[in-house]
Amino acid sequence: MKKKLMMALGLAQGLAAFDVAAADSITLPEPQKEGGIPLMEAINRRRTTREFSAKKIDDQMLSDILYAAWGVSHDGKRTIPTARNLQDMQVYVIKADGTFLYDGESNTLNLVSEKDLRPYFNKQDLMADAPLTLLFTGKAPKYAPMHAGSAYQNVALYTAGCGLNNVVRGMFDKEGIAKELNIPEEEVLISQTIGWPYM
Ligand SMILES: Cc1cc2nc3c(=O)[nH]c(=O)nc-3n(C[C@H](O)[C@H](O)[C@H](O)COP(=O)(O)O)c2cc1C
Repeated sequence: MKKKLMMALGLAQGLAAFDVAAADSITLPEPQKEGGIPLMEAINRRRTTREFSAKKIDDQMLSDILYAAWGVSHDGKRTIPTARNLQDMQVYVIKADGTFLYDGESNTLNLVSEKDLRPYFNKQDLMADAPLTLLFTGKAPKYAPMHAGSAYQNVALYTAGCGLNNVVRGMFDKEGIAKELNIPEEEVLISQTIGWPYM
């Protein structure tokens, strides 16, 4: 709906097609690659917490979370190791205002759906208000779940350091979300819900 409206406005104003398309891609702030709490403290603090307020996560934190999960950190490689450097994982960002595919090279979010797809993750409705869920998908047989595990652990350590709650979740409608995103060639691996506790 939003897209259609923007296209109509773009046409009305005689904007070039790429101006309209640009709205579908959001450049995140540069991730903060220094600081945070000491590693051993983060490891000690990491835990699952299934309580989320609706308070939003700002773009700086979102950028940091995604960098921890799947950013490009060295020689075109990632913040997590991948078997044979396959780098075949996809990280989808599921928020109330749409679902986006993270591009770690350009540090951008690319819109894949304008819908609020969080209900696919509401089997445990305690978490219905959570502002952010990451969905990890991959192709590498055998290794894909390991890659997702490395990514969600990095994210969990990041959240432990800044007071965010997180829970890794295998319990969600995997078939439904795969159909909705039209990703038959990707294996839906695991999700991770992140948000602020109630203050
Ligand atoms: C692969 C995986 C799947 C999980 N799926 C769920 C889930 O669907 N729902 C949930 O509430 N917790 C889920 N968890 C969280 C675990 O229940 C939690 O990690 C475990 O109880 C240990 O607690 P801790 O993380 O605080 O150490 C999952 C964890 C992992 C690693």
